[in-house]
Order: sequence, then structure tokens, then C-alpha cells
Amino acid sequence: MENLIRKLTETYGPSGFEDTIRAVLRAEVEPFADEIRVTPLGNLVAVKKGRGGEPRRMLAAHMDEIGVIVTHIDEKGFLRFTPIGGVSPLTCLGARVRFENGTLGVIGVEKREDPQKAPTFEQLYIDVGATGRADCPVRVGDAAVFERPFAAQGRRWVAKAMDDRIGCAVLVETLRQIEPVAGDVYFVFSAQEETTLSGAMTAAYGIEPEMAIAVDVTGTGDTPESRPMAVELGKGPAVKVQDAGMIAHPRVRDLLVQAAEAAGVPYQMEVLERGTTDAAATQLVRSGIPSGCLSIPCRYVHTPSEMVDREDVEGAVRVLLQALRIP
Ligand code: ZN
Ligand code: CO
Repeated sequence: MENLIRKLTETYGPSGFEDTIRAVLRAEVEPFADEIRVTPLGNLVAVKKGRGGEPRRMLAAHMDEIGVIVTHIDEKGFLRFTPIGGVSPLTCLGARVRFENGTLGVIGVEKREDPQKAPTFEQLYIDVGATGRADCPVRVGDAAVFERPFAAQGRRWVAKAMDDRIGCAVLVETLRQIEPVAGDVYFVFSAQEETTLSGAMTAAYGIEPEMAIAVDVTGTGDTPESRPMAVELGKGPAVKVQDAGMIAHPRVRDLLVQAAEAAGVPYQMEVLERGTTDAAATQLVRSGIPSGCLSIPCRYVHTPSEMVDREDVEGAVRVLLQALRIP
């Protein structure tokens, strides 16, 4: 999976600008899907046909990532910007960003009264090496993502956009390995999770599944002075009980626990106090679709160096394969 994860994490794709990452994912899943389509909002949906029975299930991993978007260009060619999704000004200091057309930008900061204090977005700008508006290679409304190469070190994988390309990789691998189960399985690579959850919400409306499982990252409580949380890197994928946007449906939660135990995969129970996933949106669709989430523990979520553990990722694939076999 390592080459796939490298390719997916290094690809451009902030919320609302998913064309490039969708094309990369499409090439990966097309040989293994019975049907493939792109929804009006830009979700990629790959269908694995079942043997003709129930239930119809939807898996969702979001292909978009956090980033920044240009709001203004001054006469000297410096760009002002605002975040796409949950970006901290702290992670912007010294960062490089890359636009869809390949332009590289360096984030700089104005002089400040107190340089010890974290800057605000208003004090930050992007320098693309232009000398004025005329030779500036990007426009207002263009989006960029953080630039950081993928790295593997022992069992750990580090990259930008692990959130949620690692979930996309888990879905791709699950689709590659799955034998037909009773019902149809919809593999949704969703758009716009980091901003509005509108991709998964509208995909679920169209698919009308009996159950939806998001695969996304979650935080950990295993780093120095971290917020207490009973999830650790390398202790297995986590079964979500609750996050800031939802309570997982007990039926989905219990299915994932049952699957992990049947597959012999170590797992953890997750209560996440900040952040949510596509499952928060799918549970509100139509009459309410029972929704839950299988989470990949991840350190430094929403920074350009998100870290996951190889065995948690491989374990997640085995749990999903098992869960889909359980009627
Ligand atoms: Zn995510
Ligand atoms: Co996120």
C-alpha cells in the first residue's frame, strides 16, 4: 500500500478542487469496480455488485484536504489568503504551498508587536516570487495545499493530507480484495468534507444505503502533554463511539467491533472531543441512515506532517472486509 499512499498524499486536492485527486483515484479503482460514476458535486462512486441480496452499504472516505485560498493580490504581487477547512496560523509559519497550476508559494508574516504571539491569518501572506499583479501566476479564488513529501520510517507513515487520503487508500485496498458479498457495496470518495460535508451527504441521498461507514482519521492521546484520549498510534483501528458531530449508530459500532474480533484485529474504542467526519452528514440523510466510522489513529491532524501507523491501516482493511461479510 505504501506506493499508493505516497501517490495519494502527494496529490493536490483541497475542498472544492478535487478534479486532480479524483482522476488519480479513478485510475486506481476502475479495474476493480463493476460500475463507476461521478456525482454532480464531484464525489467518485465505485460500486462492487453483490450476489443480489441485502443490505446495500456505503463506505465513505473523503478525497479533499485542507488548504488555503487567495482572497487578494497587492500591487507588489503578494497574496492574502484564508483557510480552506481547519488550518492553524501556527502551521503556516515557514510553510510552502502549491497551487493547482504548479506555482509554489512561501508563507511569510508581517512584523508584529509581539513576535512571541501566534500570528493571525490577517498578518500572513503568500510570496510566489511575483513583482506585481501583472506577473502573478495565480488569481483570486485559486487554492493551494501544503507542500510536504511523503515519508516512511519504520512502522510510521508521515505526509500531508493523511486526512483523509489514508481512508481513501483503505477503501481502494478493500475494493481490490473484496469478493462479492450479499448486497451491493458503494465505495464513495467524497468531496468537500473539510468544509461542508456536502459530498457525502448528497452521495448518501442518491445511493440510499441501509448503512454508511466513514473511514477517516482520528486524534490520539499518546504524545507529550496531549489532551487525554484513549486512542494510541499502533494499537489498531478505532471504532468511533462519539465525536463532536455525532453519536455513532449502535448497530454500526457493534458491527465494527464484531468484525474486528472475528478478524483477530486489535482495535480501540474512540471518543473524539473535537472534529467530525462524513458520518455526521450521512446519518441526517432521508429518514436517517445508520452511520458510524472506522478511524485511523493519526498524530498531528491538520498539520502538514500527519503520522499514522502501518499496522493500524492494514488492520482497518481487514476489519472492513470482515464487516462487509457480516449480514
Ligand atoms: Zn478527515
Ligand atoms: Co480533516
